[in-house]
Amino acid sequence: RVKEYIAEIQDSQVSSKEQLEAFRMRFISKKGILTELFDDLKSAAPEQRKSLGQELNTLKNLAQSKFKEFNETIQNQSEQQAAGTLDLTLPVIPHEQGSLHPLSIVKRRIIEIFERMGFNVSYGPEIEKDWYNFSALNFADNHPAREMQDTFFITKSPEETKEDVLLRTHTSNVQVRLMERQKPPIRSIMPGRVFRNEAISARAHCVFHQVEGLYIDKSVSFKDLKDTLYHFAKEMFGKDTKIRLRPSYFPFTEPSAEIDVSCFICGGSGCNICKHTGWVEIGGSGMVDPNVLENCGIDSNEYTGFAFGMGVERITMLRYGINDLRLFTENDIRFIRQFQGA
Ligand code: PHE
Repeated sequence: RVKEYIAEIQDSQVSSKEQLEAFRMRFISKKGILTELFDDLKSAAPEQRKSLGQELNTLKNLAQSKFKEFNETIQNQSEQQAAGTLDLTLPVIPHEQGSLHPLSIVKRRIIEIFERMGFNVSYGPEIEKDWYNFSALNFADNHPAREMQDTFFITKSPEETKEDVLLRTHTSNVQVRLMERQKPPIRSIMPGRVFRNEAISARAHCVFHQVEGLYIDKSVSFKDLKDTLYHFAKEMFGKDTKIRLRPSYFPFTEPSAEIDVSCFICGGSGCNICKHTGWVEIGGSGMVDPNVLENCGIDSNEYTGFAFGMGVERITMLRYGINDLRLFTENDIRFIRQFQGA
């Protein structure tokens, strides 16, 4: 009987899934011939058992390898059928490669430079209370910067300015939040989006980006501020870059200074990026006003510090010679693409 089955298997052919399944049922499945024959083996005469067992194993191996072979053939067949319905001449759907926005590239670079100097990175809210955006930063109640023309207010309290909720006008709010919750030494930079009620033009926008910096410790000096800014400028724009600090005023720093860097595009000889002055302003800075330290619970007799706030758009425009702020938000793919791999 076993010999007959062997012959049957060797002669069999399958050409469909159904025939393959029938083959499996007949020989391999639990209710199939192999199971039955192995059951019979138990009742065979002892002297026959060995040779019969060997024959059964041959049959089993043959059935299994045939099944494998049939299975592969059937699968190849159905793949070929599927390929027959594919139109291989159809053009592919183009796979566009994205790239980082120039503002993201520059923000990352700024973070990298300051991280190497030992600064960490902090973030704060864009919707802010008056206290964090203005009052704690030593803005007097009637300071013009609080006026409606600069600030987008969300809720305005009739009695107390300090209760107003607004869109932050600068990243200096994060300074206050940091100083309130952390004891010095503090050495942090704070990137983020800021909002001002301004008409959109080539040089102004109602939404832009800043990176704030804050360093508070015992005996931090103006020289530390200058060294830090100078090092940053050289890392960002190249080793021949110069900086210039111009006296200025901010309610939260004293003394205060505007930060200028020598023009990256013309090297100082004059071009339309620096408006032929050789210098481009990239932000404001100064020594943290003792009133601000005290407002945030830091002893101004023990600690001093410096702060700065830089415009990410300004730095990006200077770095890449971009002369219109609106390009950053129009999302023209021809503009964005130029920064691939930058
Ligand atoms: N917050 C200021 C601005 O937006 C910049 C600044 C930050 C100045 C920190 C001094 C210190 O113009």
